[in-house]
Amino acid sequence: MQTLNEIRSTFLNYYGDHGHAIVPSSPLVPRNDPTLMFTAAGMVQFKNLFTGVETRDYSRATTAQKCVRAGGKHNDLDNVGYTARHHTFFEMLGNFSFGDYFKEEAIPLAWDLLTKGFGIDASKLLVTVYHTDDEAVEIWKKHAGLSDDRIIRIATDDNFWSAGPTGPCGPCTEIFYDHGDHIWGGPPGSPEEDGDRFVEIWNLVFMQYEQFEDGTRRDLPNKSIDTGMGIERVAALLQGTNDNYSTDLMRSLIEASANATSSDPDGPGKTHHRVIADHLRSTSFLMADGVMPSNDGRGYVLRRIMRRAMRHAHLLGAADPLMHRLVPALVAQMGQAYPELGQAQTMIEQTLLQEETRFRQTLDRGLKLLDDELSGLPEGANLSGASAFKLYDTYGFPLDLTQDALREKGRAVDTDGFDDAMAAQKAKARAAWSGSGEAADATVWFDVADKAGVTDFLGYETETAEGKIAALVQDGKTTDTAEAGQTVQIALNQTPFYAESGGQLGDTGVITTTTGTARVTDTRKAAGVFIHFAEVEKGSIYNGQDAVLEVDATRRSAIRANHSATHLLHEALRHALGDHVAQRGSLNAADRLRFDFSHNEAISAQDMARVEAEVNAYVRQNSTVETRIMTPDDARALGAQALFGEKYGDEVRVVSMGTQDGSGKGTDGTTYSLELCGGTHVARTGDIGAFVMLGDSASSAGVRRIEALTGEAALSHLRAQDALLTKTATELKSPATSVPERVRALLDERRSLANEVAQLRRELAMSGGSNAPEAQEINGIAFHAQVLTGITGKDLPALIDEHKTRLKSGAVLLIADTGGKAAVAAGVTDDLIANLSAVDILRAAVAELGGKGGGGRPDMAQGGSPSADNAEAAIAAATTVLKG
Ligand code: ALA
Repeated sequence: MQTLNEIRSTFLNYYGDHGHAIVPSSPLVPRNDPTLMFTAAGMVQFKNLFTGVETRDYSRATTAQKCVRAGGKHNDLDNVGYTARHHTFFEMLGNFSFGDYFKEEAIPLAWDLLTKGFGIDASKLLVTVYHTDDEAVEIWKKHAGLSDDRIIRIATDDNFWSAGPTGPCGPCTEIFYDHGDHIWGGPPGSPEEDGDRFVEIWNLVFMQYEQFEDGTRRDLPNKSIDTGMGIERVAALLQGTNDNYSTDLMRSLIEASANATSSDPDGPGKTHHRVIADHLRSTSFLMADGVMPSNDGRGYVLRRIMRRAMRHAHLLGAADPLMHRLVPALVAQMGQAYPELGQAQTMIEQTLLQEETRFRQTLDRGLKLLDDELSGLPEGANLSGASAFKLYDTYGFPLDLTQDALREKGRAVDTDGFDDAMAAQKAKARAAWSGSGEAADATVWFDVADKAGVTDFLGYETETAEGKIAALVQDGKTTDTAEAGQTVQIALNQTPFYAESGGQLGDTGVITTTTGTARVTDTRKAAGVFIHFAEVEKGSIYNGQDAVLEVDATRRSAIRANHSATHLLHEALRHALGDHVAQRGSLNAADRLRFDFSHNEAISAQDMARVEAEVNAYVRQNSTVETRIMTPDDARALGAQALFGEKYGDEVRVVSMGTQDGSGKGTDGTTYSLELCGGTHVARTGDIGAFVMLGDSASSAGVRRIEALTGEAALSHLRAQDALLTKTATELKSPATSVPERVRALLDERRSLANEVAQLRRELAMSGGSNAPEAQEINGIAFHAQVLTGITGKDLPALIDEHKTRLKSGAVLLIADTGGKAAVAAGVTDDLIANLSAVDILRAAVAELGGKGGGGRPDMAQGGSPSADNAEAAIAAATTVLKG
């Protein structure tokens, strides 16, 4: 038996041997096609190679491509489990030529692989061709020797393939396998073609044209080949069955499900096992490619698939969550071909466990409500939209889960009624929405959200992607176009641009369409819509256009490092200062980070050093940064740091980084930092590079603020500090290590010199070096009054004392002209203070000098004035005081 894994290798090696580059599967979330929800064909990653927009160093390629057909245009979800060939996840094997070979080589390559490589009986194969494609008919006849009755001409779109309404396309030829007349069904084109007897196994597309939105078509620069073979179908026929679910890989998953639930894989629970096996694959692969369960966009498709599987697990009687226990079986089967699956295994298991635990809390009650509703309904009647909406809104039953449950009972849902109920709820939410000053602006975004849906954020995974413009807004109103020089707000169906939130600034970058370029200066969010604030730089851009979105990656990478460092800083502060430390605010810009937290006092240099060292130790640890989605309660139970007073939705992202031993924190008792956070983060802590704290300050009462730098900014800061030190050392003519000592010595020397100078000034003043008059006698009191220059106010008290000592008994008034201003002091010897106060003398003098106040004690008083110009009058005024 050829196993599915062997079939994949045989295919890839065969085309590899024929000069094709073996290219890895692209992610399930297409980066380059805004019209697709999920990658649904092998050609998606090569779209731009067909149109000639992009070239690579190969012109032939082969892939095994992961595909999901659920949600969006290609949706097989409803049929999974009930048919032999429908899947939400499948692998498409393909070979591609980008202007290299065309049909004359593609057909023989395919035929030889099937009949020789895989050893399929040629007599069981037949083909279809597009009705006008005589060339293909001739090649089939010549190379495969097929007779006319086994080459069926089809005139419909079935044999003209395109990935979507626009893009590369062309006629195709499909290869069918006849499982034999024991199975009902007819050849393609016949009335019985929908039967299971004739199964399409391979589609070879002759890519020739590019289709445009306006309906026109142009020839591709080079004729090309795109093929797609469903590996599950080929595995089925090679393993002697027409049932994809009986192939080795699917069977092993079904058996894992049967074992885990102690049930018969082929018994009454057969459909449940099939649904579980299929949905295990799509959900696990989607999570491995970064899709996380959520309530809108791709995340909601994922959640719908998960919950659908979980209901089937419940129907199997599984007492505990089941899905996560099956992941090892999937990784054993597919982990080698798709290493990303094994790498994400723990995250996938944890997310499935959490989702299932949570859904089981409402599943029972929801099913009971459903039963009650149904028992009251007449035979064959549909479930009302209101009931289906209640199941959706209160019990978390996606509409298709309810439909799936009803299918077994031969009933359907009134979907119009469901849509009405949904619309009514949205209108209510909108009416209840009260905003700040931005409210008026936000109205337009509610309209956009209603019409185009909320924006799917791709920026956790990528910084470039394509999106479709969903709205252009100028001055609060939608518009069809914006031209060079105009500012405009742009919304798209999906975007890698992060919208400002949680302290992390919005992304900047460039949006390009075929007709214009806009520079994005900021990104924000309203009503679930990501608003790109942009200025059109070239040409014009139009609503509805496809656009290439490129985030300024250097800036984002710096912001990311700062945001991750903030988490490490938060934890390190808690370690150094205590568990009362809680985030009060933060800013994650490109050039720095700022973190406000509850704490009452300045942080000691020792604690600062300790915190900085601890953060850097975790940076060097270079552990992977992990993100999980869970309920806020689960997150808190794990010990995640949540923002005080912040309102969280039904689910939160939990970001963990760093591994520490034995602290008893985190899920496994070893996680260092665990925080609720919607921001973007580094892949590994080492990407932070380096962490430097600039210091702390008081932000508000009980809140401290730390500013810090990471990566290049941290290094530049350290280099600048170093340069300052070097410059200082050069000035001091001493080695850098002696700078503190030298500075201390210089300061000491300066202090003693200053003292010496003051002493000399006083001596000079006392020795009458300037205009020292003799003391006069006023009212029997010796009075020394003098105007001094070259000394400061600080010298005055000592001089007053010296004059008092010299006079033995008397009064002193000194006016120091300090250049523009004047310092004034008065003194009275102790024997006189009973009748004469220095304060009175001083005040009289100061008032005359144009100053105010001044004060002290009766023996010594000091004051100042704006100038010493009226010194004579001041001395006269003092004399009057002495005269009594
Ligand atoms: N792109 C072609 C398909 O998906 C091969 O069928």
